[in-house]
Amino acid sequence: MDLFEYQARDVFEKHGVPVLGGIVATTPAEARAAAERLGGGTVVVKAQVKTGGRGKAGGVKLAHSPEEAEARAAEILGMDIKGHTVHRVMIAEGAKIAEEYYFSVLLDRSERRYLAMASVEGGMEIEQLAVERPEALARVAVDPVTGIDEAKAQEIVQAAGFAADVADEVADVIRKLWTVYASEDATLVEVNPLVRTEDGAIVALDGKVTLDANADFRHPDHAALEDKEAADPLEAKAKALGLNYVKLDGEVGIIGNGAGLVMSTLDVVAYAGEQHGVGPANFLDIGGGANAEVMANGLHVILGDEQVKSVFVNVFGGITACDEVADGIVKALEILGDEATKPLVVRLDGNNVVEGRRILDEANHPLVTMVDTMDDAAAKAAELAK
Ligand SMILES: Nc1ncnc2c1ncn2[C@@H]1O[C@H](COP(=O)(O)OP(=O)(O)O)[C@@H](O)[C@H]1O
Ligand SMILES: [Mg+2]
Repeated sequence: MDLFEYQARDVFEKHGVPVLGGIVATTPAEARAAAERLGGGTVVVKAQVKTGGRGKAGGVKLAHSPEEAEARAAEILGMDIKGHTVHRVMIAEGAKIAEEYYFSVLLDRSERRYLAMASVEGGMEIEQLAVERPEALARVAVDPVTGIDEAKAQEIVQAAGFAADVADEVADVIRKLWTVYASEDATLVEVNPLVRTEDGAIVALDGKVTLDANADFRHPDHAALEDKEAADPLEAKAKALGLNYVKLDGEVGIIGNGAGLVMSTLDVVAYAGEQHGVGPANFLDIGGGANAEVMANGLHVILGDEQVKSVFVNVFGGITACDEVADGIVKALEILGDEATKPLVVRLDGNNVVEGRRILDEANHPLVTMVDTMDDAAAKAAELAK
């Protein structure tokens, strides 16, 4: 889960990372009140959207008074930044910036460790810097067991070439950002810019944090950070049912067992759907124990998607044998009753396939078509969706 900047700011503050005051506002009047609460001086009005490049898009604006903050907020609220509508702004204390730096730490899956990156040339041009002068962006591998200890923080600071008069303080902030990364179970913590202010303080002015959803069970407080408005209602329902579901924008609903099989199913449906102008409507992995209840829940979510015109159930019997899955499908259709209204194409293979197919044959449900191969089933489902 990606956090909004204001949420990242709060998480930083909780772990002692130096940040400036920031208050969220959803209306221009609230923005004005927030600027007053911050002392009535210079503030920055910042669009809160989960995408970078807000500054360049005109979503970060200086205001010298509460009146100006109100006016800037009126301009920024409702703006579209790379397809994200701005519903809230953060009114942040204005910093007098002397220098802008960059720091991030992220999960480096291919190297099976973490990677820290730092530069003394941070700010809005960091992407360009990384491409044009990669040597100006230090990359330091971080051992997952030791993490960023004092020695590692010094190594990062040296590699990036921070001046001697700020090196120790930057190293200290980097250590605190590591605490954020490790103790919140993040997969990314990025600060751009990390600034030195005119009076010599090191402050995180913009933060991006991605939390690892696999660690949610260790962080009950993270649930409150979820952006409920943005959540797709079907995805929210699937999540409540404990299903691994991602909404897509096609017409062929997909259920499979195992993430790999479901991914391949999306591919074959996309391919088969090309000539009919249809595509996959979702990702749904019902996992190993594909019993009737899980199957019914899965079908219920998929059939709740108005765009869905047909459903492809693609199951490879392994530990869960095909006969159990076939039973699951039959019982799921019983549970759903009148709610099951769209044609189902079922492809069963693997452990106990003969018995599985016999069960479906016998049930002879009017909505169910059995097809032997994955490609043919995808073609059939796409044709029915058209
Ligand atoms: N609180 C602030 N005070 C002064 N300048 C700021 C403040 N926040 C951001 N800026 C300036 O605006 C630029 C862009 O803001 P930032 O928060 O990094 O948004 P984005 O990365 O989405 O463009 C920063 O590089 C910095 O120069
Ligand atoms: Mg930034």
